[in-house]
Amino acid sequence: MTDSSSTPGGNGPAIDSSMPHSARVWNYWLGGKDFYPVDRMVGDQVMQMFPDISRLARADRAFLGRAVRFLAGEAGIRQFLDIGTGLPTAGNTHEVAQAAVPGARIVYVDNDPVVLAHSRALLASTPEGATAYLDADLRDTSAILANASRTLDFSQPVALMLLIILHLIPDSEDPYGIVVKLLDAVPAGSYLVLAHPASDIRAAQMAEMTRRVNERMTGPGASMRDRAAISRFFDGLDLLDPGIVQPQQWRPEPGELTAPQVTAWCGVARKS
Ligand SMILES: C[S@@+](CC[C@H](N)C(=O)[O-])C[C@H]1O[C@@H](n2cnc3c(N)ncnc32)[C@H](O)[C@@H]1O
Repeated sequence: MTDSSSTPGGNGPAIDSSMPHSARVWNYWLGGKDFYPVDRMVGDQVMQMFPDISRLARADRAFLGRAVRFLAGEAGIRQFLDIGTGLPTAGNTHEVAQAAVPGARIVYVDNDPVVLAHSRALLASTPEGATAYLDADLRDTSAILANASRTLDFSQPVALMLLIILHLIPDSEDPYGIVVKLLDAVPAGSYLVLAHPASDIRAAQMAEMTRRVNERMTGPGASMRDRAAISRFFDGLDLLDPGIVQPQQWRPEPGELTAPQVTAWCGVARKS
């Protein structure tokens, strides 16, 4: 693991530009510029079959922005642990949180060497707050918690953010147990912010897209889940209104355009 709080890249694993990777394909769908030709090729192949994917990516990021604004503002949360950060883009967690509360502290975690190489943009903290980047795997919760505790105070509430990452952990690797371990480490008053691609919205197309993506991508492959399976991640927590909804339906701001349908479920819940 690399713990970077100021200088990105350098010593991490080599970047394989010949194979597509979820962080870079996601960046392509978001309209970013940090991807290789192979990522664009796979991104285009998926978009041809499933043009809505880029709407999903944008709706997810907009949900992230509204959820973090709510948590840093109304809910009084000062600490964020954002696992599966993705490549820096507009409205990164620390930018949204620190715009509301300059003293907010954020730890980012991702296991993609390209994200590590771009992590400088994630480390531009306000002087009052702090940001850190951990090159670590979600499945290694002990390492994440030990290293994050250098920046976050785990005796105080933390917002645990898991957006469009848990589908990359198959049931055989116990994604529910991973979430429980992370939630066990944070005190009452902490929050879980979660978004997950849906297998039960436009089900046939999602199944075919998943099959094709898994054929082409590196990594463990995607396990899409339905609303009931995604709801289980919130077991034991108090779900905030409006509950588990599609990302564009979670507290849209007045006048915000809401996409008709986005193939993901999301929610925000509080630990009591
Ligand atoms: C689809 S992107 C989502 C990015 C961001 N959370 C968002 O919602 O825009 C998934 C991210 O999770 C990262 N990731 C995938 N599996 C991971 C793992 N086991 N541990 C840590 N990061 C992982 C990928 O590298 C990628 O950056």
